[in-house]
Amino acid sequence: MSRLPSEHPIRPQALSGIKNIIVVGSGKGGVGKSTISTLLAVGLTHQGLRVGLLDADIYGPSIPQMLGVCGAQPVVRADQIIPVDVAGLQVVSIGFLVAPEKAVIWRGPMIHNTIKQFIQQVAWGDLDYLIVDLPPGTGDVPLTLAQTIPMTGAVIVCTPQAVALADALRATRMYRQLNVQILGLIENMSYFIAPDTGREYDLFGKGGAELATTQMQIPFLGSIPINIAIRLSGDRGAPMDIFEKDPQGVGQAVALVIKNLLAQVDSIPPSVL
Ligand SMILES: Nc1ncnc2c1ncn2[C@@H]1O[C@H](COP(=O)(O)OP(=O)(O)OP(=O)(O)O)[C@@H](O)[C@H]1O
Ligand SMILES: [Mg+2]
Repeated sequence: MSRLPSEHPIRPQALSGIKNIIVVGSGKGGVGKSTISTLLAVGLTHQGLRVGLLDADIYGPSIPQMLGVCGAQPVVRADQIIPVDVAGLQVVSIGFLVAPEKAVIWRGPMIHNTIKQFIQQVAWGDLDYLIVDLPPGTGDVPLTLAQTIPMTGAVIVCTPQAVALADALRATRMYRQLNVQILGLIENMSYFIAPDTGREYDLFGKGGAELATTQMQIPFLGSIPINIAIRLSGDRGAPMDIFEKDPQGVGQAVALVIKNLLAQVDSIPPSVL
């Protein structure tokens, strides 16, 4: 039981009460990690699952705005942070604790301690999924998380351009070095659907990211279009609109990505411990 070949990784036992912890990262900034983390978390909640969303972007937390809870103040009880409940989704962000206009300058050990607290001193309750939105790059936060918590795996977000793909490759290498299972790659801002005609335009060519995943030997989880409804849902703090109204099939595209992601999680045998 104790030894399985490395190509059959074991899903680690996450923290008590949390079945799966999934981090969402990228090598590059601005590719849509926070948007995708939010959509994944809201989409999973929409399916009736118990979900938490941790905004671990200590440099530029954007989840409070994307969920429309900018001024929220989490309650602290018996040394534990109680997450903010957003329509059933349990949310914690550094943005709740630090004023958004204040530049957050963190040094390595502070980052380490804050991230540890965020995981261990939050009363997450029972969760099927904890989604963690990471800052861009391959720095202290993913490193600390990989060393502190038993992650189920990482999702990498990229855009279709060659430079973004090169960055996704860098992120892939980092997770492999940290021994974190890569659950797959999501291509964001992939194609454009004209709101007036419904025609699809492949702004950056088609199939590049999927081909790259074959070369990197990681799963391709799907493409999400560049769409005004996604941008507006983030700015207005109403991501549930994407699933409830399904503008131009965007909700369906995200649902397909979620289905593929859950299939990847299910393909990893759970820890027997
Ligand atoms: N598929 C999309 N369609 C339209 N707009 C999008 C899409 N994905 C992201 N955006 C917009 O692009 C901007 C950047 O997205 P987001 O903040 O999610 O990126 P990020 O990777 O988290 O950035 P950072 O590296 O700064 O954390 C946001 O304004 C967001 O609304
Ligand atoms: Mg972000």
